[in-house]
Amino acid sequence: MGSVIVITSGKGGTGKTSLAGGIGAALASRGRRVLCLDADVGLRNLDIALGMADAALMDFSDVMAGRCELDRAVAPHPGIDGLYLLTAPLTLPADFAGEEGFRALLDRARAAYDWVLIDAPAGIGDGFRLAVSGADRAIVVAVSDPASLRDAQRVVEAMQGVSPVHLVVNRVRGRVLRRLGATIDDAMDAVGLPLLGLVPEDVQVVLAAGSGQPVCQVTRKGAAQAYANIARRIEGDAVPLMRIW
Ligand SMILES: Nc1ncnc2c1ncn2[C@@H]1O[C@H](COP(=O)(O)OP(=O)(O)OP(=O)(O)O)[C@@H](O)[C@H]1O
Ligand SMILES: [Mg+2]
Repeated sequence: MGSVIVITSGKGGTGKTSLAGGIGAALASRGRRVLCLDADVGLRNLDIALGMADAALMDFSDVMAGRCELDRAVAPHPGIDGLYLLTAPLTLPADFAGEEGFRALLDRARAAYDWVLIDAPAGIGDGFRLAVSGADRAIVVAVSDPASLRDAQRVVEAMQGVSPVHLVVNRVRGRVLRRLGATIDDAMDAVGLPLLGLVPEDVQVVLAAGSGQPVCQVTRKGAAQAYANIARRIEGDAVPLMRIW
């Protein structure tokens, strides 16, 4: 029986989609069956982070409405065994079954995959509530500035009932971190969450998406290594934090 992790943030653009693609690829490379589920209705782009632009024809609303079986709707990754994408619709159809239907979809996904990673839309609106409604655990992605951390705290408050919830701090720059001194500890205190990982600022994340490949197929260093470490921690390994400074 698999487990469902929802990846959320307060502010937009903190790196949820990149993280979902990165840890999805890393978990699949460890031999797991992984479903990356794009829940960002209308603004889907997890396909691009996975290097699978427009690979999926059917979306999660088609499966929920019974227009297509789950195993027919998912798109297998062309280069990474065990990695699958279920994309989001551009708009929700009139017959959309809501949170109850979404939870039923996740039950089917748990039976077929070791990990289901949901890429949530930013903020705490309807799309967020749908994305978190059936999750077993959550990751909140923030960048290391105070505004982003405060928004992360709001998301945590809006996510009552999901446990555990972990923090990932993305786009960390060594020099800034050093100058901010104890901020990573402060960050955990401010948001009130245990830290699952730090991801460095890494131009390879942008370049990989632009070249249509997941970042782990381009390099094993930097952000790719951080995603791999986070994947190991998710599975219970004790991996020391990456040295970014
Ligand atoms: N560690 C990183 N280093 C450099 N660039 C990054 C990093 N992580 C993400 N980015 C870039 O930041 C931008 C936003 O990332 P991404 O789309 O993953 O964020 P998001 O939280 O999913 O955004 P949205 O809220 O709009 O869904 C992208 O251009 C991505 O390539
Ligand atoms: Mg996104």
